[in-house]
Amino acid sequence: MKRLDGKSALITGSARGIGRAFAEAYIREGATVAIADINIERARETASEIGAGAYAVEMDVTQQASIDEAIAAVVRQAGGLDILVNNAALFDLAPIVEISRQSYDRLFAINVSGTLFTMQAAARQMIDQGRGGKIINMASQAGRRGEALVAVYCATKAAVISLTQSAGLGLIKHGINVNAIAPGVVDGEHWDGVDALFAKYENRPRGEKKKLVGAEVPFGRMGTAEDLTGMAIFLASAESDYVVSQTYNVDGGNWMS
Ligand SMILES: NC(=O)c1ccc[n+]([C@@H]2O[C@H](COP(=O)([O-])OP(=O)(O)OC[C@H]3O[C@@H](n4cnc5c(N)ncnc54)[C@H](O)[C@@H]3O)[C@@H](O)[C@H]2O)c1
Repeated sequence: MKRLDGKSALITGSARGIGRAFAEAYIREGATVAIADINIERARETASEIGAGAYAVEMDVTQQASIDEAIAAVVRQAGGLDILVNNAALFDLAPIVEISRQSYDRLFAINVSGTLFTMQAAARQMIDQGRGGKIINMASQAGRRGEALVAVYCATKAAVISLTQSAGLGLIKHGINVNAIAPGVVDGEHWDGVDALFAKYENRPRGEKKKLVGAEVPFGRMGTAEDLTGMAIFLASAESDYVVSQTYNVDGGNWMS
């Protein structure tokens, strides 16, 4: 018996990175998964590489019509929605005195509004179905404390932790568990971009910041997307039915709370 047998999942931003690894893990556990991403070409490639159980859905989490259409597509394809992972996010970096309104608005639109209104649409669908559900939001160690160059991203992830607490309290009466995962530093294309930004603002050679942050992790290295899949499966499965409004650090020991 697999832990997610017969479940229908939607993972935002799963064309690559952590979302893709979650999709593969959920399919191994018996679920079908919508690879929902703004980059539909990459989502289609990813779905066809993963194979049976995965299908691509075009979705921009900043647009309400796109959120509603993506949920409707999942219901058409899989007959319902049991698991939502709010994983899509954007990172940016700038000293406080250089933060632009454009960057602020874009990060909050994807990371915060996107998370809230996708969660809301999924919860409405799950309530109509009447069989509960699981919502997992991707937070970050960045949401646990500030960073001089990362103010806006940190604020968006603190908001995700707070929204997870409120939504978890509001939805548990419908049998919907809302929880979050706070990764530390996870290697991949996302961190290639982060490293390039630190290279610019801290005047470092490319690749140096990655080495530094990896060496500082108590576990001894940066994380991989696969390091997070155990928690993602747990929070999507019946094993977490009594877990409400929590944010779990899966970060090799970087943060304690
Ligand atoms: N990688 C890390 O070190 C790390 C650390 C802490 C938290 N996280 C969080 O984990 C999650 C996944 O991170 P990742 O490293 O896989 O990121 P990533 O940048 O590799 O992937 C993000 C995906 O989101 C998609 N996306 C962007 N805007 C979108 C939109 N408007 N609508 C739908 N999709 C959109 C992108 O096309 C991409 O496929 C994010 O929430 C991130 O903040 C990552």
